[in-house]
Amino acid sequence: MLPQEIIAKKRDRQELTRAEIEEFVTGVVRGTFTDYQAAALLMAVVLNGMSTSETAWLTEAMMRSGRVIEHPEITRPKVDKHSTGGVGDKVSLILAPLAAACGLCVPMMSGRGLGHTGGTLDKLEAIPGFSVQLEEPAYRAQLQTIHHAIIGQSEDMVPADRQLYSLRDVTATIESIPLICSSILSKKLAEGIDALVLDVKCGNGAFMETEAGARELAAALVSISQATGKPTTALITRMEQPLGRTVGNALEVAEAIECLQGQGPADLMEVTTSLVAEMLRLGGLLPETEPAEELIRAQLQNGAALQAFRALLQAQGGDPRVCDQPSLLPQAAHREALSYQGSEPAYVTALHARRVGEAARLLGAGRAQADAVIDLAVGVVLAKKIGAPVTPGETLATLHYNDATALSEARDRLGSAYAFATEPPLEQELLIDRIEAR
Ligand code: URA
Repeated sequence: MLPQEIIAKKRDRQELTRAEIEEFVTGVVRGTFTDYQAAALLMAVVLNGMSTSETAWLTEAMMRSGRVIEHPEITRPKVDKHSTGGVGDKVSLILAPLAAACGLCVPMMSGRGLGHTGGTLDKLEAIPGFSVQLEEPAYRAQLQTIHHAIIGQSEDMVPADRQLYSLRDVTATIESIPLICSSILSKKLAEGIDALVLDVKCGNGAFMETEAGARELAAALVSISQATGKPTTALITRMEQPLGRTVGNALEVAEAIECLQGQGPADLMEVTTSLVAEMLRLGGLLPETEPAEELIRAQLQNGAALQAFRALLQAQGGDPRVCDQPSLLPQAAHREALSYQGSEPAYVTALHARRVGEAARLLGAGRAQADAVIDLAVGVVLAKKIGAPVTPGETLATLHYNDATALSEARDRLGSAYAFATEPPLEQELLIDRIEAR
């Protein structure tokens, strides 16, 4: 079929066949489907949607557009997690070694940060020497010896997503559930996993700001991933304020280490524990939540999870001494406290996650464009989060910075993230829902 015939079919709200979708994806990668034809089809999908079957075929065609990894040599259940991204979300750094310490294999391939959200690869690169680029034999060997790895996807994997994503970025076609689902899932499924757990974030710091949007995305991701044969669950978690106390790469690594030492903040540990428990369930190791959470707590308390993280650093060239001496991580040269300016005691009622993320980005912790260079040492440490009582002059948060150029803008942005009232706010559940395949 000619590209224009496939485009016309979607324009006219007809369902595409698996063969037509494969023709589109291979055409994009080989250049027989031009950019303007691909963009026209993408826009037709944005406007007219795709069925679950069409989206699953698109996902599979994209996944097979490059190298797909398989791990027949690995006997442990291979389970990974994907988060739709938030502020202060350092869960992967804790989850991968913790899940490995609990008996799973986690062949994690991760991404970099863009805009107000951070990326796991950037955080790991804050550890002196750590490499996120492993050759395939080393990656496979590492999965057999220490049962987890966190690396970047190589250029030859899922090339269709790279091409389509950059077209979507400049043609106003990002916001489409079938296109988002196929983009996320094609990358995860190419890792050769047995099952997948999704953390779909919801709130002002998330890709999906409304609960309805997060629910729609979670349900679509779960049903499409299931349709490709992978058991999948999504947890919908709140992202109205940053997760944990730190935002910024080295700062987040230090906090992840505290978590692995069993001393993490409650919100971060709640999300991490729930996701690992779900991974243990889908991996068939522990079907009930309570024993799974007991095992997770035990592996944190007895040092096994931290030991697994140390092994990860050793395997990927990172300095394992940071596990005991976080001061070996990059440190910003300057600190400035943001204090509460009110004249009466109050409670923090809001801590707008996106604005905190933007403040950290202004200091250099994140990228405004994909090719920007970031400062791994800088960011924000939050002393007061939603619900905390504050007194006049008390420190709310500390900005860690090297370059003062955007300091005052960052300070203002961080200040604008906070809201106060004399009454404490109602506590909100962090875990909004758990979406399983029907
Ligand atoms: N993340 C992705 O990987 N792809 C999308 O389309 C949106 C978010």
